[in-house]
Amino acid sequence: MLILGIESSCDETAGAVCKDGVILSNVILSQEIHCKYGGVVPEIASREHDSHIISIVDSALEKAGITYVDLDAIAVTYGAGLMGALLVGLNYAKGLSIALNIPFIGVNHLEGHLYAHFISYPDMKYPYLCLLVTGGHTQIWAVQSAGNYILHSSTVDDAAGEAFDKGARILGLSYPGGPEIEKIALKGDCDKFKFSIPKVKNSPLDFSFSGLKTALLYKYADMTPDEQKDNIHHMAASYQEVILKSLFTQLRQVVKKSEIQQVSIVGGVAANKRFRELAQSLQAETPLNIFFPRIEYCTDNAAMIAAAGYEKIKNGLFSPLKLKAHPNLSLDEGTVV
Ligand code: KG4
Ligand code: ZN
Repeated sequence: MLILGIESSCDETAGAVCKDGVILSNVILSQEIHCKYGGVVPEIASREHDSHIISIVDSALEKAGITYVDLDAIAVTYGAGLMGALLVGLNYAKGLSIALNIPFIGVNHLEGHLYAHFISYPDMKYPYLCLLVTGGHTQIWAVQSAGNYILHSSTVDDAAGEAFDKGARILGLSYPGGPEIEKIALKGDCDKFKFSIPKVKNSPLDFSFSGLKTALLYKYADMTPDEQKDNIHHMAASYQEVILKSLFTQLRQVVKKSEIQQVSIVGGVAANKRFRELAQSLQAETPLNIFFPRIEYCTDNAAMIAAAGYEKIKNGLFSPLKLKAHPNLSLDEGTVV
């Protein structure tokens, strides 16, 4: 079964083709225009999607060696995300579905992230914990079975990706901040500056990142321009380390509570190589088994949408043409059919 995946929820316009769950192509256009604004500008994102969606989908089909008429179905993100951005992908998918007379399915973007690791580990067994770390979400879910999710932990303020983005802005780096901080942290000493791991009062399993960002702001603003220049790498390394350590601290508590030792870590922040190194050390000390998707399937992409769509479609699930975009969709709302 050949499925076209389309993703346009934020600032990546993406198309991918999967054949029976195997990814044949994965084309992503990251909208660099937002860098100069320090974050995604929703109206510009919608316009950029509108300008590129057709060529991105054409390129995904070409790379997969197929044409439109070979497709059996279309999987498309319908939430969560920016309304205008979602509408571009969703309406394009609906148009194709009518023109080609093939079904389509709306996929929950967060469920797409969750399915990203099945592309590399199709035989992963339930139950497992999923640490979902994106620009808008930081949550730990117990995945009991396909589509059956229980929330154990979430952030009470900023998401981890947002902490990277806001931290990068404070350090004068560009958007998205995660890869920028990761890059300069390579030359820094992560023990040079002390940041304490945030704790949420009366909610020991939850995350909080907004105080960290403020601590970074004060420490950095307290320095002279020369000190800033000499220390920016150490500051980035120390800040990155505390964000990642906080993720592992809460994860260990959820592991203890749930007694589930298998963990997948997904979403844009999971692309971070230091994150993967720390996970390896943790695995060496504990009975935990930690899985990451391949790096290109961590940040927003359409391969994960096609893969999630395939799981739904093979179980006979499709969406009606009246399916609306849902900007605030949660993971436990799954896929609306
Ligand atoms: O999953 P994603 O691509 O989009 C959302 O669904 O939000 O995640 C984007 C977030 C951004 O905050 C970005 O700074 C962060 O993931 N990110 C990273 C890295 N690559 C992307 N954070 C840390 N290290 C990275 N290498
Ligand atoms: Zn995402």
